Amino acid sequence: MHFHTIIEPFRIKTVEPIRQTTREERETALKAAYYNPFLLKASDVLIDLLTDSGTGAMSSYQWSAMMKGDESYAGARSFYEFERTVRDITGFTHVLPTHQGRAAERILFGSAVNPGDIIPNNTHFDTTRANVEYRGAMALDIPIAEGRLPQVFHPFKGNMDLEALEKALADNPGKVPLAMITVTNNSGGGQPVSMANIRAASGICRAHGVPFFLDACRFAENSWFIKMREEAYRDNTPLEIAREMFSYADGCTMSAKKDGMANIGGFLALNDDALAARCKDMLILTEGFVTYGGLAGYDLEAIAVGLREALDEDYLHYRIRSVEYLAEKLAAAGIPMVTPPGGHALYLDAKELLPHIPQSEYPAWALSLVLYLEGGIRSAEIGSVMFGRQPDGSERPPALELVRLAFPRRVYTQSHVDYLAEVLLYINSLAPRIRGVRIVEAPPILRHFTARFEPAHRTLIVN
Ligand code: F0G
Repeated sequence: MHFHTIIEPFRIKTVEPIRQTTREERETALKAAYYNPFLLKASDVLIDLLTDSGTGAMSSYQWSAMMKGDESYAGARSFYEFERTVRDITGFTHVLPTHQGRAAERILFGSAVNPGDIIPNNTHFDTTRANVEYRGAMALDIPIAEGRLPQVFHPFKGNMDLEALEKALADNPGKVPLAMITVTNNSGGGQPVSMANIRAASGICRAHGVPFFLDACRFAENSWFIKMREEAYRDNTPLEIAREMFSYADGCTMSAKKDGMANIGGFLALNDDALAARCKDMLILTEGFVTYGGLAGYDLEAIAVGLREALDEDYLHYRIRSVEYLAEKLAAAGIPMVTPPGGHALYLDAKELLPHIPQSEYPAWALSLVLYLEGGIRSAEIGSVMFGRQPDGSERPPALELVRLAFPRRVYTQSHVDYLAEVLLYINSLAPRIRGVRIVEAPPILRHFTARFEPAHRTLIVN
């Protein structure tokens, strides 16, 4: 007998209580947080979908591996275990541990990118873009056209526009020190990139002598999508698929807080000896010695186990299905979102849901506030607040105005998802009454983390 129910492939050994709050309490908390979800206290949040980064539950195997942590400053056994695992999955020669993904980005771009350079990517994540721009270089987003159309179905909406890549390299000889593909494409809706696209992009880069890197944060989820959607890989394991993906690249940046299944950590891995030597100097200068790079020995152990657990088929099946399950419920109610749903998150389309709010009043940000106000759910805006401000200080609204509901790994169960769906259906019924916000105060870069807001029309929801 084949049963259809997909269960959480774990049982729960330790529980962490979450707290119900009243709407009045949440209204007060929102005001105190200057209408910025990043400034809320986590204890005032019922279901926290702000990010899937570092928020996952570790397995009993990870916790027990942590007890083996070797905290030696240099040459710790834990490092060699970590290095062996990363090499086994990625095939890259040099493995530099970092405290998280953006440190790997800073070290790579700090060592390889110069002012005036251009970095093509399917879509830069916010820290990636900021680290490129901080070097005085230009972050060029070139997703395929479907990647910018939330309602259009495409199995690999994270794909890079290969013609645009070819053009960027041909038009700018000597100005493109490296190109990147982000798997899955977080800012474009958590959408996967096909093996065919990675292979072709790699071929174009190699023809131009340009190093090709993966932003590999969600490499395991991307591998699962390739297995599900790219016919030739149906019978391959996620590990085999991951290895092939990495084989087309010259290196990768990684946040182990995602598919490393750890609460902290990351790495930079690459093949070029000369570039690796420069990166190692930067690593020592800013993170730590090359065999720990800003991490404890026990963190390296947790990541080594986590990278393998992320490639487990039962786990990936449950993970991708959880997001899809929510998407089915919302689709049945006609709630606009990026389709198909992404791997780690579902992205609500705030432009469609709130067409009466101009982008200058940040519709996606307003929607994320209402999600908290009505249901105690914390989400993240990926829209005009995150991406609207240009390096020269002007405002240019991005193509997409999204609210991301990111699922921490192995944390929430089906009943949590049922609750989410119920709240979202209710909010859908309130949509015409939701109003926008304005920025009261904001820092010059990565403003979404600390900016202060207020309702643009006295209240978030009008009668
Ligand atoms: N690249 C991508 C695609 C990411 O999603 C992130 C982080 C990073 C790089 C940076 O890694 O946080 O370890 O420094 N994304 C988190 C998120 C923060 O919520 O999507 P980090």
